Amino acid sequence: MPLDPDEMSADSGATPSVWAEGPGLADSFAAWMLPMAGFAGLVVAILPPLLYGVMAWERLERQALVHAEHMAQALSDVARHQPYLWMYNAHKVLEATASHKTIQDLGAARIVKCDGEMLFSSRELGLGSGGIDGPVGWAPIRGPRATVAWVKVTMDSRPQVRVARQIGLGSLLIGVLLGGALFIIPTRVVRRQARQLEKTLTRLEATEAELVKSNRVLQERVEEATQELKELSRRVVSIQEEERRRIARDLHDGLGQMLTAMRFELERPGDEGGALALSQQVLTELRRIVRDLRPVELEVMPFVEVLRNYTERFEERTGTLTSFRVRGEMRFSDETAVCILRVVQEALTNISRHAQASEVGISLTCEEERVTLEVFDDGVGFDLEAPSEGLGLRSMKERFRFLGGTLTIAAEPESGTRIRGVIPLEEPVDDST
Ligand SMILES: Nc1ncnc2c1ncn2[C@@H]1O[C@H](COP(=O)(O)OP(=O)(O)OP(=O)(O)O)[C@@H](O)[C@H]1O
Ligand SMILES: [Mg+2]
Repeated sequence: MPLDPDEMSADSGATPSVWAEGPGLADSFAAWMLPMAGFAGLVVAILPPLLYGVMAWERLERQALVHAEHMAQALSDVARHQPYLWMYNAHKVLEATASHKTIQDLGAARIVKCDGEMLFSSRELGLGSGGIDGPVGWAPIRGPRATVAWVKVTMDSRPQVRVARQIGLGSLLIGVLLGGALFIIPTRVVRRQARQLEKTLTRLEATEAELVKSNRVLQERVEEATQELKELSRRVVSIQEEERRRIARDLHDGLGQMLTAMRFELERPGDEGGALALSQQVLTELRRIVRDLRPVELEVMPFVEVLRNYTERFEERTGTLTSFRVRGEMRFSDETAVCILRVVQEALTNISRHAQASEVGISLTCEEERVTLEVFDDGVGFDLEAPSEGLGLRSMKERFRFLGGTLTIAAEPESGTRIRGVIPLEEPVDDST
């Protein structure tokens, strides 16, 4: 299955055209089946009468020979004693052999001279009706020294021809029926199957088109996500730079100024009190800078307390009423704790910068399988669809997604903002954070 949509659409275009342009499967099969069925019908129609005809002809030929030999034998007996007169008694001799008259299917019996001249015709001998075509048998009439004439017996083949004709009619009927059945039944089955196949093909084409569409959408999403990721990386780098500048500023403007002032104080003899007070300020400033750099509190304080302290400081700093509620026992990894802390920090920074809220709520719920964080305010809200240069919200989502969770934002202009994030807890972590 090609993943490139263009490649796929090219393929999907090629498949139906083969079906559309070429002859249908059922038609091809019918064209192939027609001569086969016709041939089978013809064989069934012709073979029985043909076989019967050949066998009947051979039987009549044998009969003709037997009868001719029988008659010739009787006449030979006379000819041996009466070499010249036998022919005048020939019909009497044959009459005496009474069985000759009752020969079944006898067409004609003649006596022919050795030179081919007719000696006695059928009528003269009183045997058969003459003028009949059929299998012939010859037998010699032998005199004392040599053959004096020939007996020629012709069998009447008309009764057998009649029977063969009847067999032929019957087998023709069977042949036509068989040929018809051989053609119609498989062709119908194939036609039905071809229709099913066409339906399946149509469904397949529709599915393929759907697949191409989904693939395109998927590609667009991948491109969007890649773009977002690039932007995020750029933003991370610029935040790092910004952070370094801020630290440098803090060190220069805060600690630097204070240390310079302290040096002046120390240079003035007898005024240790001022230097002492300044050194205390330096220490406080140093602590503030360090606290802002990384959540070291996590190493010395339980996570919930760190969060509570942070929200209290937020309330003090902004004057916004802030409630903090915790449910369940906080048992999750350090990574999850840092993620939640950073998201709360960004959400509160956004509230102080954009929301103009009078009340803020933070709720953290830890259950067996998940930990849920909610941050909401009653501020001005915003339009989620409006384009934004900021990366705070996106970075929040990324942090949750990175830990296998999800983060959703609900906001409307003038209706406040609610952020809800869930992180699944696959297995309980032993060390309490
Ligand atoms: N609690 C809130 N109340 C009102 N508007 C908000 C709130 N949170 C976010 N916004 C709006 O959403 C926008 C995007 O927020 P986001 O945090 O992504 O970026 P930012 O705060 O403008 O910049 P930064 O990248 O520094 O965070 C903000 O510019 C603001 O208009
Ligand atoms: Mg922000």
